[in-house]
This record gives sequence, structure tokens and C-alpha cells, in this order.
Amino acid sequence: MRLTVNPDLCTLCGACLLTCPADMIREKAGRIKIGRVMCIDCGHCVALCPEGAISVEEGEPGEFCAAPPPGVEADALRALVVRRRTIRQYQPRPVPRELLKQMLDAARWAPTAANCQCQAFTVLTDPERRDALAARVTDFYRTYADIVADQEHTAERLAGLGLDPAFGMHPHMQAAVPAFVKHVDAGRDRLFFGAPVVIVVHADVNEVLPESAGAFATLILALMAESLGLGTCITAYASEALRALPELRADLGLPEAHQVHYVLTVGHPAEEYRLIPPRRPAQVSWV
Ligand SMILES: Cc1cc2nc3c(=O)[nH]c(=O)nc-3n(C[C@H](O)[C@H](O)[C@H](O)COP(=O)(O)O)c2cc1C
Ligand code: SF4
Ligand code: SF4
Repeated sequence: MRLTVNPDLCTLCGACLLTCPADMIREKAGRIKIGRVMCIDCGHCVALCPEGAISVEEGEPGEFCAAPPPGVEADALRALVVRRRTIRQYQPRPVPRELLKQMLDAARWAPTAANCQCQAFTVLTDPERRDALAARVTDFYRTYADIVADQEHTAERLAGLGLDPAFGMHPHMQAAVPAFVKHVDAGRDRLFFGAPVVIVVHADVNEVLPESAGAFATLILALMAESLGLGTCITAYASEALRALPELRADLGLPEAHQVHYVLTVGHPAEEYRLIPPRRPAQVSWV
């Protein structure tokens, strides 16, 4: 981000120097100088300067806007967080695109390492595309369950499937695969739960800590959905299969350098939780 400081407005208060995460701001001979080499385009110096002395040079992308008033009560935010439940039954009616856009827009503000903003989303709303993906993911698990059961030849058979012979799921997931396949074969959608929308969250592997960008963006999507009266389920079955199989990612049009981090189903819930289930006490050490 190319930035200019207006010396007539600057009072040398030093706020921008202290906030810059990249240490790109210096005071020299009574003037504020901003470098660009390590600038992560966070915009904090512009957003913080009490005099409005720092401006973005013409031609740079992005617009600053006024911060909304600090209106979200802690109780309201907590209520949103504890109300959100994973939804595993959906109404078949479509989700208005406007609501999806609101969710995706908010997810742009997820914190990301070095402000890389690398989270990307592929949104499946076409039932045929969704069902085709579901069928291929289920096929993958059908074969995977068979391979894991054949303990003597697991490594070669994994390689035959195009997977790293060391490919292994967490034992909890692995143990659940046969039941997952059985349910799907019996006509029960244990993958997308009949949700009309599936969002694949992915990011370029060369970015800074891309997995965390995906995680935080996914949480924002889920909380925004809750606030809009929609339900979500993060489904590891889908994300694990997409992570393992490049051809599935290619079919969805993901760039080659992108890895999938999360898959989220979205829809109008067809189940309503009456109670908030308990959680373990927070594991906290005060030191
Ligand atoms: C990374 C991740 C993967 C998950 N994968 C699945 C899944 O494959 N299938 C499923 O039904 N739920 C899945 N869940 C939902 C969890 O089971 C759920 O979040 C947890 O039981 C707590 O319930 P709650 O979300 O209603 O609070 C996943 C959640 C996360 C965070
Ligand atoms: S925050 Fe603004 S006023 Fe303060 S030193 Fe930086 S440019 Fe000058
Ligand atoms: S945009 Fe962020 S990183 Fe760049 S100079 Fe301003 S505060 Fe520093």
C-alpha cells in the first residue's frame, strides 16, 4: 500500500509508529516517513491516525469506511456463539444469494497471518454439482474403507488410489468410515445432509499460514449464518476427500496451488435445538 503523510496535519503524536506491525513507519527530522518493503497493507496507520494525516495514494485498491459504532453487547455475541449448533437436517428450499453474499462479505474480515487475506470460497448451489461431488466423495470412502480393512496390502492399495502410502485419517474418523458409507448407501445423506448450499473454503498453499485463514473465515461464515437464521455444518468427510484428491479440486475449478481447508453446508434448518448442550470447563491456566 503506497501511503502519503500530510505534514501539515501530522502532529507527530506517534500513534502510527506504535501500531505498525511491519515496523515500516519512522520519524525522521520531524517528519513521518512510511516505507513499503514489508508493509502488509493492513491499513491500521490510516485507520488510526487521529488527524487523518495519512492517505492512500491514488490507484491503490480498497476503500476505507467508517467503523460501525461499538454496538454488539457481549451478551448478544455470547448468545450468538452458544446458540450456533451444527445443523444436520435442512429444508430443501434454496438459500437466497443475498444471504450467502452477506456471509461471504463478512468472512473477508477474518484475521489472517501477515494480513494475507488468502481465504477463497467455492460455493456450490447447483444440485447437480453438489450431488456429483457427494457421489465422488462417497466413492472415495467406499474404496478407502475397503483398503483399510485389507490390512496386509493397505500401503500398496493406497498408492494405487493415488494417495501417499502414509495417508491416514485420525483413528476416530477412520473408525466411522464404514458406518458413513453404509448410511449413504442406505439413502441417508451423511455428507451434506440435504443442504442446498455447500461452501468449500480453500487457500493458496504458498500463503502465510493458509489453514488458519480458512479456519477463521469458516467460523465467521458459521456465525453469520446463525445470525441470518441459517444453519451450517462443517464436514470433515468432504474436506478430507477434497484434500486427498487433486482431481476433485480441479473439477470444482480450484487453482492447482490451492488446498481445501474446510467444507461447510448451509441451508434453512429443519431442526430446532431446544437446549444448549454442556461444554467442558474452559481449560485455563493463570500464570
Ligand atoms: C473441523 C470440523 C469437522 C467436522 N466434521 C463433521 C463431519 O464430518 N460430520 C458431522 O456431522 N459433523 C462434523 N463436525 C461438527 C462437529 O461434530 C460439531 O461441531 C461438534 O459435535 C459440536 O457440536 P456443535 O457444532 O453443534 O456445537 C465438524 C466440526 C469441525 C469443527
Ligand atoms: S498517527 Fe497521524 S498524526 Fe500521529 S504521528 Fe502518525 S501521521 Fe502524524
Ligand atoms: S498499512 Fe499497516 S503495515 Fe503498512 S505502513 Fe500502515 S500500519 Fe504499517
